[in-house]
Amino acid sequence: TGDVTYDPGFMNTANTKSSITYIDGDEGILRYRGYPIEQLAEHSSYLEVAYLLANGELPTQGQLDNFVSSVERRTLLDERFKSLFDGFPRDAHPMAVMQAGVSALSTFYQDSLDPFDEDQVRLSSYRLLAKVPTMAAYAYRVSKGHALLYPDNRLSLIENFLRLTFGFPVEEYIADPVVVRALEQLLILHADHEQNCSASAVRLVGSAQANLFTSISAGIGALSGPAHGGANAAVMEMLDEINERGMDPRDFMERVKNKEDGIRLMGFGHRVYKNYDPRAKIVKKIADDVLERLGIQDERLDLAMKLEEIALNDDYFVERKLYPNVDFYTGIIYKAMGFPTQMFTVLFAIGRMPGWIAQWNEMIHDPETKIGRPRQIYTGQPLREYAPMQART
Ligand code: CMC
Repeated sequence: TGDVTYDPGFMNTANTKSSITYIDGDEGILRYRGYPIEQLAEHSSYLEVAYLLANGELPTQGQLDNFVSSVERRTLLDERFKSLFDGFPRDAHPMAVMQAGVSALSTFYQDSLDPFDEDQVRLSSYRLLAKVPTMAAYAYRVSKGHALLYPDNRLSLIENFLRLTFGFPVEEYIADPVVVRALEQLLILHADHEQNCSASAVRLVGSAQANLFTSISAGIGALSGPAHGGANAAVMEMLDEINERGMDPRDFMERVKNKEDGIRLMGFGHRVYKNYDPRAKIVKKIADDVLERLGIQDERLDLAMKLEEIALNDDYFVERKLYPNVDFYTGIIYKAMGFPTQMFTVLFAIGRMPGWIAQWNEMIHDPETKIGRPRQIYTGQPLREYAPMQART
């Protein structure tokens, strides 16, 4: 095996240097470009965070206005996207539709594909930030069989997204400002998380000099997995199942601890956070605020809190340093806002878009970037002769 290091899951291998996001998993710290996540969630906006992640500094008012208008005027999708979306089965998972849609951006917007042309890349970034929410809304509408609305660019990006998702053609749709702000905060919390599975996928594909759209569609594929972005939906399915079967939360936790059928407490544990996930604290607060504002009492919130309480006092979870992660409570908020479970991971993807763009940009400008090409330790057959059919048993 020579000089090859065996490191499944890249537990100890840094593939890059990065100045975007700082995480201290033992201390439960997350910062974008040096700014604590708590401060950004409180004071910043989604597009300001997107600017910060991409450019390294908070924008001045003029820079922000410019950036926001560059994004917000690009929410419209080429009309032919409609037939693309119409072609998918109605029960298609919206993440699969999104991945196909983002991939198709390279066919519609061929004037911004050159990875080494900064103006083109900037244009692609605006297009992604603007059009992905539209696509997400369309993925949902198609599944419902509802008409696709056109974006109304007098609205902010997030208001527009909510209207495209929940509005109807002849009705005025006014989003609740508390819901808009809560969604904005959730998107900020998801905006980047250094070299996670999907960001690594984006970088790996980009390292072959594939264009930004194609690289990001790979990230969406990675994010769809239940061990990554799919966890927020998996949490909701878990809570629903416990409720529907009338299971005692303690019995369920025993099954988790005994690893029966390999079940895990979804929304718990993290590769990097071994103390607590700072995002989870903020999410819990948002959950309380949104449910109160909307006057919703969701028994799943009580169940989730019960499971958390059991876990935090149980040796199995304490010894393995398993705490609630960002996804433990997000689903309850998304449900209260009216999103079906299948859309949860799509919302994560909208949130993560600024991070993927920033990671891809950093990769493409880094003179030390090499094509991502892991090694292996071969465990197969040694050399042998091709056997003719009649000699095989
Ligand atoms: N429930 C029960 N046991 C768990 C859990 C869990 N959620 N997570 C880890 N463990 C156990 C695991 O069985 C193992 O036990 P043992 O030492 O007895 O074999 C030990 O803890 C270490 O687990 P691991 O799989 O080696 O840890 P990892 O760092 O490879 O995995 C993880 C991290 C997030 C994939 C994992 O904790 C997990 O599957 N969690 C549930 C899914 C989830 O919530 N994912 C969202 C992550 S945050 C958002 C995102 O990244 O998208």
